[in-house]
Amino acid sequence: MVVSAKSQNKTPKPFIRIIHGPNLNLLGQREPETYGYQTLDEVNHLLTMRGETLGLTVAFFQSNHEGELIDAIQQSIQDTEGLIINPAGLTHTSVALGDAMAVYPHPSVEVHLSNIYAREVFRHHSYVSSHVTGVLCGLGAQGYSMALNFLAEKI
Ligand code: DQA
Repeated sequence: MVVSAKSQNKTPKPFIRIIHGPNLNLLGQREPETYGYQTLDEVNHLLTMRGETLGLTVAFFQSNHEGELIDAIQQSIQDTEGLIINPAGLTHTSVALGDAMAVYPHPSVEVHLSNIYAREVFRHHSYVSSHVTGVLCGLGAQGYSMALNFLAEKI
């Protein structure tokens, strides 16, 4: 279930959602040489703190299911002012996720932990990139933090 911003955001701080796609729940144990040794909870905790420093309220959503990710994007149209998304494997296959992002009206950043352009050719294409404000990849979990910095300035 996507947690509504209204129930979380009791202050007027800008509300940002970070959406993690399939298999990112396994961060830390999944190919750590490629995706890092931090768990998703650890990454999200650091991003919550970074958000506080930047004056942002940050919520998180992870799903292994394409439709749930689309629902989270659609809800974000209603309740956020900025979005960060790592669509994971669906980056390279999902027209529908790209279509959902095409409707998102606020600044948005696509983040990949690994440098998808230094990997297999099938990872070089993203159905999402043309529908976001910018893309960060290959910077590990720091990419999310840099995306938050960008959103804090932009919003
Ligand atoms: C990823 C890159 C994708 O190609 C891959 O399928 C993932 C993670 C990344 O963060 O580097 O699951 O999005």
